[in-house]
Amino acid sequence: MDMNVGVIGSGTMGTGIAQVAASSGCKVKIYDNQPQALEKCRKSIQGSLQKMLEKGKISQNEAEQLFGRISFIGDLTALNDSDIVIEAIIENIAVKSTLFSNLEHIVSENCILASNTSSLSIASIAASCKKAERVIGIHFFNPAQLMQLVEIIPAIQTSDATTEQALRIISSWNKIPVLAKDTPGFIVNRLARPFYGEALRIYEEGIADFATIDHAMKHFGGFRMGPFELMDFIGNDINYTVTESVFTAFYFDPRYKPSFTQKRMIEAGYLGRKSGRGYYDYAEGAAMPKAAEDESLGKDIFARILVMLINEAAEALHLNIATARDLDLAMTKGVNYPKGLLHWANEIGIDFCVDKLDELYHNYHEDRYRCSVLFRKMKAEGRKFEIN
Ligand SMILES: NC(=O)c1ccc[n+]([C@@H]2O[C@H](COP(=O)([O-])OP(=O)(O)OC[C@H]3O[C@@H](n4cnc5c(N)ncnc54)[C@H](O)[C@@H]3O)[C@@H](O)[C@H]2O)c1
Repeated sequence: MDMNVGVIGSGTMGTGIAQVAASSGCKVKIYDNQPQALEKCRKSIQGSLQKMLEKGKISQNEAEQLFGRISFIGDLTALNDSDIVIEAIIENIAVKSTLFSNLEHIVSENCILASNTSSLSIASIAASCKKAERVIGIHFFNPAQLMQLVEIIPAIQTSDATTEQALRIISSWNKIPVLAKDTPGFIVNRLARPFYGEALRIYEEGIADFATIDHAMKHFGGFRMGPFELMDFIGNDINYTVTESVFTAFYFDPRYKPSFTQKRMIEAGYLGRKSGRGYYDYAEGAAMPKAAEDESLGKDIFARILVMLINEAAEALHLNIATARDLDLAMTKGVNYPKGLLHWANEIGIDFCVDKLDELYHNYHEDRYRCSVLFRKMKAEGRKFEIN
């Protein structure tokens, strides 16, 4: 699609989004209010193109053309000819609102205004614009150049035409768009919570150590990384903030309760790989702990975390957060799960999932283990999830 794209915020996400749009032939203007951030972005894109060139993924000519389609701008008004503007600035509603209301006076009537926010409601951002029907959430995953999934989140104010156009644009950028309701965590950041939360809970109860839990999820589940390895990779500070924000936004639903174990890790400065230490020690020569060799324990851990993830997906389907197809696509394409969660439920059996959740609920009497009503109904009716 030949169009003019504006990107605001030239940090991690803005840089990736600008490169994605330029790769598909769009002319991109990227704006940041910090000149050094723009410079870093320019170097990062050049570096990324250089790597692609060395790997033979693009020719010298293609790299030059692609880079030539991106301008780095320090003046917001230069976005006046944009067909779509995607904002990827600091995660702060007051700052985003001011930007969107200023932007509305710069761009044309038909320009789509999108936010890449991970945790703010799209309705609250759209409310800062007079023409709120052209505002939408377009949520990329990091690194945007590599991750195929993009969540499209219409606010209650968003027009169908805006949503359809956003879906068309994202598909034309060779990404896989999924449609999500404007609810906390959208799809991926909501459905993935038990992967971390239940693993932390299992550890806190003394059932198993980090290495054993990680091994169980990789060996029995086929996940590329275990929960603790992944939290160390993402950064405990970032991962905890997402959990806390989802927990707060869901009015403190115990299903999303953050963990003291993770909080203490942050307080101790054990952020993960980036600080050299998290659940594991990343110092050179440090020995990685070994997982306990206990197959039945491993299978139990995997089953407990998996049914909690599946229950989250079932509940999201029940509440019309997205279609079954989009819920499954989101997890396989957004966070590389080996299978979609609803597909997985069909495979291991709805009866098994409901019984396992009921067993947990019976043991704990905690609301966190409540089984989705949809699930229970499906068991009674002998139905499977229909994913197409
Ligand atoms: N990092 C992720 O993994 C990730 C993934 C998906 C979505 N997001 C969302 O994307 C957005 C950006 O995240 P990031 O990780 O790229 O942040 P970042 O800190 O890497 O980059 C933000 C950039 O925005 C600039 N900026 C701040 N305020 C500005 C303003 N008023 N006008 C213009 N530029 C301004 C900063 O100078 C900085 O360069 C956030 O809303 C975040 O929630 C992040």
